[in-house]
Amino acid sequence: MSSTILSMEGVTLSFGSKRVLDGLTFSIPRSETFGFLGPSGAGKTTTIKLLTRQLVRDAGRITLFGRPLEHACDADYDRIGILSDTSSLYERMSIEENLRFYAKLRGRGAGDVERLLARVNLIQDRSTLVKDCSKGMRQRAALLAALIHSPELLFLDEPTSGLDPAARAEVHRMLAELKSAGTTIFITTHDMAEAENVCDRIAILNEGRIAACDRPASLTLRFARNRIVIETRTQGTVETTKDAAGADTVHKLLAQGEVLSIHSDEPDLEEVFLELTGREF
Ligand SMILES: Nc1ncnc2c1ncn2[C@@H]1O[C@H](COP(=O)(O)OP(=O)(O)O)[C@@H](O)[C@H]1O
Ligand SMILES: [Mg+2]
Repeated sequence: MSSTILSMEGVTLSFGSKRVLDGLTFSIPRSETFGFLGPSGAGKTTTIKLLTRQLVRDAGRITLFGRPLEHACDADYDRIGILSDTSSLYERMSIEENLRFYAKLRGRGAGDVERLLARVNLIQDRSTLVKDCSKGMRQRAALLAALIHSPELLFLDEPTSGLDPAARAEVHRMLAELKSAGTTIFITTHDMAEAENVCDRIAILNEGRIAACDRPASLTLRFARNRIVIETRTQGTVETTKDAAGADTVHKLLAQGEVLSIHSDEPDLEEVFLELTGREF
């Protein structure tokens, strides 16, 4: 059994009269990449702020590393890395200067900066001022800054938002590397395809509660449609159902040598979200 790194139980939070989180409950085992999905304004950033004690909940329980969050100490914060939704980098400093700054804050040395720069494609850009960096370079550098102390638990708030496909792929590569090193990752995104690719489990946040929480494949299967799509040689696309009548159709087409391909028609996560919430993502 893997141990629970992080949990929330019945957590509520309101801003004034607006209830943003309404009985939020989930737990994350060690080494999991946990995707926290929801449309803009759903409460993703608020949840990260609660988990990292930048905000205080109204009610409910939160545990971190097996203890109530209230009992977290400095040593626990040293086990956490945060990539927030706003830039953590100083514009007029170079990538390397930024990393050295964060290393110093975390009690690390130049060796850690070198080790990190070597891990991604930034060695040649180390002296570039952040203000002259592309969005992709900034985000990779910000991720490195969050990793400077080799945290066990990483909070990533929409790390690939606004990145082009190449820069996004680079961030995904870094996440895969962290995952294989056993890092527990809490990642928010509103990119369904990203969640499907990167996450072990996904929680879908809707109106302050978790509408569903499961492995991506299980989620899509849960909402599987009763539909089989067959491409045929001479009859075009044939649609049938996943039952005895469908079996007959498939059998006949196979016997006639008509079948080019058969697909079970599973929804993607975007459709799952729509199904769960009645809303477009
Ligand atoms: N400091 C705050 N004061 C008042 N309302 C806030 C504050 N922070 C966030 N909100 C509101 O809480 C809701 C959730 O925000 P947020 O957690 O940033 O959503 P997400 O990250 O999912 O886009 C939004 O409606 C937002 O306007
Ligand atoms: Mg946010």
